[in-house]
Parts: sequence; structure tokens; C-alpha cells
Amino acid sequence: MTPGGGPDFPAERATAVAQLGTSPRRTLYRGRNPKRAATIEDLRAMAHRRLPRFALEYLEAGAGDEAALAGNLAAFYRWRFLPRALVDVRQRDLGRTLFGRRLPLPLLVAPTGLNGVFRKDADRLLALGAARMGVPFAQSTMSNNSIEDVAATAGLHHWFQLYVIDPPEITDDLITRAESAGCEALIVTTDAQTFGKRSWDIRGRVKPSILTLREVIDAGLHVRWWSTTLLPRGLPRFANLQRWFPKDKQGLFESAFWTRDHMDVGLDWDRAARIRDRWPRKLLIKGLLTAEDVARAQAAGADGAILSNHGGRQLDWVAAPLDMLPAARAAVGAGFPLLVDGGVRSGGDIVKAIALGADAVLVGRAPLYGVASAGEAGVIRAIEILRDEADLTLALLGCARIDALDRRFLVEEPG
Ligand SMILES: Cc1cc2nc3c(=O)[nH]c(=O)nc-3n(C[C@H](O)[C@H](O)[C@H](O)COP(=O)(O)O)c2cc1C
Repeated sequence: MTPGGGPDFPAERATAVAQLGTSPRRTLYRGRNPKRAATIEDLRAMAHRRLPRFALEYLEAGAGDEAALAGNLAAFYRWRFLPRALVDVRQRDLGRTLFGRRLPLPLLVAPTGLNGVFRKDADRLLALGAARMGVPFAQSTMSNNSIEDVAATAGLHHWFQLYVIDPPEITDDLITRAESAGCEALIVTTDAQTFGKRSWDIRGRVKPSILTLREVIDAGLHVRWWSTTLLPRGLPRFANLQRWFPKDKQGLFESAFWTRDHMDVGLDWDRAARIRDRWPRKLLIKGLLTAEDVARAQAAGADGAILSNHGGRQLDWVAAPLDMLPAARAAVGAGFPLLVDGGVRSGGDIVKAIALGADAVLVGRAPLYGVASAGEAGVIRAIEILRDEADLTLALLGCARIDALDRRFLVEEPG
């Protein structure tokens, strides 16, 4: 078994299977034109070329042995399609209604923190790309552009992801600002109150807030990165939290560690219920994996749940969200919005998740590869690739409407 894949499947999707030894020689696209990226793997290769190692490790790394990270991808490999023959698929519809809004495809840009190390104003660029493609953008508490800054994006479905931070005034302030900025939904993330162990991140530093000389030199050599990321303001700041940091903890790394130390590790269902009472719009709980927790979120008045293991970055060896989806759906019935994330790298993956009972998927790394490699145009390209692959999958599957997908379009590979 390869580390990143199932039994016959390589970690990088674009390699190996149809190659005889090393022939034909295949390479991913690594240039600068996002339009030439055929798959998410191409955008990933472009991002790898542009980013310095420390930023790349932050983007890619999983926790511990990275078993959860690999497992998220492997979960998708286990499912194969079962197409219907002789179906008229001339008129296809990828659109889905979520919370009363019609989305052109069932996808959201997931909340990711510290995007400013990939490119200057990356949160705004992600928001612009999402708005252009008509899909929601969930902004992280740990974003580098402020809530208000992102809210100014024309035509954006703006969601906000909340970390519960102490003292409670901080959390309260974030909720108030998200509400005033017009955010449509609040996502409470539950699986990162305690920070996971990302060994590669640790190895790249001499002290928590100081990179090794090797990493610094490597960053300096990535001219295209620093000239479009650090100039003219230097390392980004956590714009939503900056006012709360003590005077000696204003720098990027110091404030990141300060925030880690101030996460409310006591966060429980009672506190979640108080947030529910406080937030007047749609509320989702993210980071759930068991059917019991999803049912509890429903009973607690949440409007939806997000099955997630934080992209394999928190608890290592944790189950893949996709694998937990059928049981979660069975527990809450058809009417309760269930979203899933972790390992979505192709349109076929979206189709599989919907067929297994998800209302929509979130994508974390895929649009980050886009923004890192080519800014707004890269984000648009990432979503276009996923959309077009999903559409093609529906056509080949003999299923004209994504709403008509169900488990019968899939067969599980015999283990
Ligand atoms: C670089 C990075 C930063 C992240 N930061 C956050 C965050 O601030 N809040 C959060 O709820 N999830 C965060 N996540 C998790 C994502 O929301 C999402 O669950 C995950 O990326 C999905 O897996 P995928 O990357 O395989 O698509 C982060 C993920 C990545 C890759």
C-alpha cells in the first residue's frame, strides 16, 4: 500500500498507472498560467514551485504520522462508480439548494487560517474567486484579512468560522463582528481547541517563533513568493484578533502561539448551546465524526453539521469523514444539512460525497493551491476544475442531476 493511497493507487493522482516503467514520461504542469492547469494536482505542483518550504509544510502537513491525511484520500479511492446506460444527459444540473439558496455546485471554500503566508491578501482573493464562481467562502477566525475587509467583496456568500477563545469577550466580539458584517452562517469548529502535533512544522524552527536558518535561506531564495507576499508589509497579522494580543505578542508567530494558549479547551455542548442562542442566523458545527454527535448537534438547534477531521491536521489516525457519512445521514434523516470535507481533490470526489449522503463538500487545500499559485485566477481555476470534472462525471455516470445521485451509483471496492 502506498502511503497516500489505496492498494494500487499512487499518492499523486497524475502519475504511474498508465506508465510502462517510466514511459511515457509524464509531468504535471508547473508554469504560471492557471488556465493550463488540467487538474488540482497541476495547481498543487505550481504552488509547490512558488512557495518556500515553511509555507508549504504549513499548507500540506498533517498531524503525527499523517495517517489521517492519507486516510482522507484513501477513503475516496475505495468507492467506484456504477453508471446507468442509455440515459439522456443533454441537460445537466449541478445546482443544489442549501439553506434556501441555490448554489451552482454543492461546494464551499473551507475556512483556513494564516492564508497570508501563501500570498498577500489571500483571504480577499479566495473570497473574490468564490464570489465569481457563486460558492460560499467560509472565512477563518485566523484569517489575515479582517472580517470587514472580506465582507466588502461584491456578491459574496460570506460565512464565518469561529474558534472559541478566552477570555469570552474575544469570542463575543468575533460573533458581533460577523453578525454586523452580514455573514450568512457561523461555523463553530470543535476539533482544534487543542492544537495537533505537526512534526514537520516543529522541525523547521529553532524556537517556536524562529525559523531555522535553512528555512530562512530557502524563503529568501523564493523571490516570486516574497515579492508577492511580504512586500510591502512583511509577515501578515491576524487581523480579527490583533487588538487582543499583548504588546510583546504582536508578531505573527508570537500571536499564533498566544492564540493557541487561549483556546477554550473546556468548550462543550453547553457553550455551543449558548453560541446557538447568541447567533441569529445559520449555525453549523464543524469537526464532528460520529452519528451520535451529529444527532446531538441537530438536537442542540444547529442548522447543519460538517463532518471533518480538519484535513488530517489535528488527531492523527482518526477516521475519514467520508467513511462516517452514511451512518451520520442515517442518524439525522434527509432534511438536516450535512456537509463533509477532507481529501476532496477532484469533481469525482464531490460526486461520491453527494452520492453517500452529503448536501455539499468543503474544500481546503484545493483552493489554497490555486491562491498560492496564481491568486484570484488560481482560485477560480480550482473551482472550475472541480465543477467541470463533476459535470463530466455526471454525464458519464448517466445521472443528469446531482440531486438525483444516491448510493446506488457507487460500489465499494472489495477490501
Ligand atoms: C492550511 C490550512 C489551514 C486550516 N485552518 C483552519 C481554520 O482556521 N479553521 C478551521 O475550521 N479549519 C481549518 N482548516 C481545515 C479546513 O477547514 C478543512 O477542514 C480541511 O482543509 C479539509 O481538508 P482538505 O484540505 O483535504 O480539503 C485548515 C486546513 C488547512 C489545509
